[in-house]
Amino acid sequence: MKQTTPEPTRPLLEADQLTKRYEDGQLALDTVSFQVAGGEIYAMLGGNGAGKTTAINLFLNFIPPTAGEARVDGVATHRDPLRAKARLAYVSENVMLYPNFSAVQNLDFFTRLSGRTDCRRDEYRAVLRRVGLQDEAHDRKLKGFSKGMRQKCGIAIAMLKNAPAILLDEPTSGLDPQAAFEFIHLLAELRAEGKAILMSTHDIFRAREIADTVGIMNRGRLVMQLAGADLGETDLERLYLNYMSGHATPAGGGAA
Ligand SMILES: Nc1ncnc2c1ncn2[C@@H]1O[C@H](COP(=O)(O)OP(=O)(O)OP(=O)(O)O)[C@@H](O)[C@H]1O
Ligand SMILES: [Mg+2]
Repeated sequence: MKQTTPEPTRPLLEADQLTKRYEDGQLALDTVSFQVAGGEIYAMLGGNGAGKTTAINLFLNFIPPTAGEARVDGVATHRDPLRAKARLAYVSENVMLYPNFSAVQNLDFFTRLSGRTDCRRDEYRAVLRRVGLQDEAHDRKLKGFSKGMRQKCGIAIAMLKNAPAILLDEPTSGLDPQAAFEFIHLLAELRAEGKAILMSTHDIFRAREIADTVGIMNRGRLVMQLAGADLGETDLERLYLNYMSGHATPAGGGAA
């Protein structure tokens, strides 16, 4: 008989006691654990140097963990980086693309590199439109693009990879307010498609608006995690500022 109950959402991204001490002794991430299931958006908030980019880089296996592990769809990234990376799409803070290629040529190049060879030009244009890059820019060279326009291309490449998990490091940092607004809606669409989305951001208001779970990081530790009704009822900005000023401690019900 056909199974009718929906499959329980399993975590696609898992930080398990994840710890990173850099070569110079800096403890950037201290036994951090969290999970992101398919169809969920997890936003990491935290001041400069809190460890957000370090966490993302560990998921990508750009750096090895000192202890604990980052798993993608159950695969520990430092043990089987190729299998883990195949399930991940990533948009960095400063998207690096080929300056002498057009937007469409960059999409074509990076999509083929990620293993997809079935994409047509009109599909690239459709994705560029979806991320809000104006038509007249599709065939222009990247070297004339603003930061936000490059960011949009990076997001388009990540979408074309069609991976179940997406990592975004400060994705709205280069976007103008309208583009940031549209981007948040795009993330909601990707969530509805079942993607697991992990993002770092300094934008408390957007995090609250879009995320299912918000984790507040401070000096390498996940000091607070809020989800669902807790997130809706909390003055996130005040809570965040309390943690940053050291007036709140990680103890208590909602602490991670
Ligand atoms: N390659 C590195 N070598 C040594 N220390 C590093 C390295 N990269 C980051 N760090 C340190 O690790 C800590 C966490 O940095 P990280 O870049 O993860 O912070 P972040 O939360 O992303 O900050 P921001 O909001 O400024 O992007 C900081 O103290 C930083 O100086
Ligand atoms: Mg960072």
